[in-house]
Amino acid sequence: MALFCNITIFPKPLVPSCSSQKTHFPKSTQNTKLDPIFKIKGPATLSGHVTISGSKNSSLALLAATLCCSGSSLLHNVPNISDVEAMASILSSLGAKVESFDGKMMVNSDGVGKVEVDLEEMRKIRGGFFVIGPLVARFGEAVVALPGGCNIGNRPVDLHLRGLRALGAVVELRDGKVWAHTANGKGLVGGRFRLDYPSVGATETLMMAASMADGITLLSNVAKEPEVVDLARFLNDSGASIEGAGGDTLVIQGKSQLYGSECVIKPDRIEAGTFMIAASITRSCISMSPVIPSRVSCLIDKLSEAGCKISQVDPHTLRVSALPALCLGDDLKSFDIKTSPFPGFPTDLQPQIMALLTTCAGSSLVEESVFENRMSHARELQKLGARIEANGNRAIVFGKDKGSSLCGSRVIARDLRGGASLILAGLAAKGTTEIHRIEHIERGYENIVTKLQNLGADIERSTLPSMPYLV
Ligand code: UD1
Repeated sequence: MALFCNITIFPKPLVPSCSSQKTHFPKSTQNTKLDPIFKIKGPATLSGHVTISGSKNSSLALLAATLCCSGSSLLHNVPNISDVEAMASILSSLGAKVESFDGKMMVNSDGVGKVEVDLEEMRKIRGGFFVIGPLVARFGEAVVALPGGCNIGNRPVDLHLRGLRALGAVVELRDGKVWAHTANGKGLVGGRFRLDYPSVGATETLMMAASMADGITLLSNVAKEPEVVDLARFLNDSGASIEGAGGDTLVIQGKSQLYGSECVIKPDRIEAGTFMIAASITRSCISMSPVIPSRVSCLIDKLSEAGCKISQVDPHTLRVSALPALCLGDDLKSFDIKTSPFPGFPTDLQPQIMALLTTCAGSSLVEESVFENRMSHARELQKLGARIEANGNRAIVFGKDKGSSLCGSRVIARDLRGGASLILAGLAAKGTTEIHRIEHIERGYENIVTKLQNLGADIERSTLPSMPYLV
């Protein structure tokens, strides 16, 4: 690191130059460590069909839920991504038997002999915290490192903890860890709890815990996200009794034991949304399946408002066309978005839609209401020539003028969905875009490079000497 203190490696910010159509990157000879990057040559035109993988967030919740079940649970259509791998490693570290084969995962947690998830495991995946509910409900005890802040905000866990207390757990914070146990060796007891905010994670934690509590639990103001519905279905198939999933109140009759069951993970609505925006930003036409259209209806509405044509080819296939000849106007028009819990516009598509808006005619307002710090991609999009004024949780995006557009440059993925927005912008940009810190993107997108290559994009995963000074 000290090697680089007094020298300028490349001008900051790296100003894209479309006129030369060439971006010159300095070569480092000092460091032999290699970092993976994505390199995209744009602009791309996409065509063809893409298969959407199983949902990341459903997989994580269902893997945590397997801890509630006696015997084996079999999950199909599990995406091969690093977040899933990290969750599987947490389950294994607790003593569960996890087998992975052909997109399936079989988990048997009968042998769980440890109830502590350590900081090292939590560093790999914040969602590891969500095992607290099943552990305390089935094994009477859980010790989980407190997740720190992350790139998109503080992400407190107060609702998880207050909800567990409402079910009779004793919850203490000590040494940066949460210690939860049931009182006097008795199990959790059904209770009433109203979430101040419809947190997805807290809803899932409390659903799992209440499914094994003694008596009836009433949870109100819960999250209505589709992943909550998927989790309820899996738990019910495993013997739980949860009513109301998808609405704002859950009534859960606790059961003394749940038994492993089989489940096919539903398609990832955020991955589907990302490909819908990929077709739009490249002014292309692609189809995708499987998709559950009602889970992306908010995006369908916004893209239609912009002028895209979206058609449902069959119950699980969507075709998105933004070909100039098929658009409703001359080109896509700008629109405003404000993120909010489901069925509102998903926060997990806000960065990708911001990338699209930089290419639309007119200016737009993007408001983030779910997380307090989810705009860091704006700065990276600016490096590609986007005109964005970001202030707190609001950004004004100035769409393209006649003749101007995005230009390739070197950018950094700072979080998962922000990284996806850079891929999309790179597809639309003229010249070469180099995306660093792609480990964020690979947390949540299965085979993203191959899928885009099959649609005709010029994208590759390669390595470059590590650049620790990149900020
Ligand atoms: C989940 C998703 C994530 C998505 C988010 C919102 C998973 C693994 N991740 O994250 O992709 O972006 O839902 O749709 O499913 N909050 C509190 N106290 C709490 C819990 C949450 O104040 O105890 C706040 C958070 O700081 C945030 C808001 O609630 O501002 C929403 O967070 P939450 O719905 O809990 O998101 P996650 O479950 O972490």
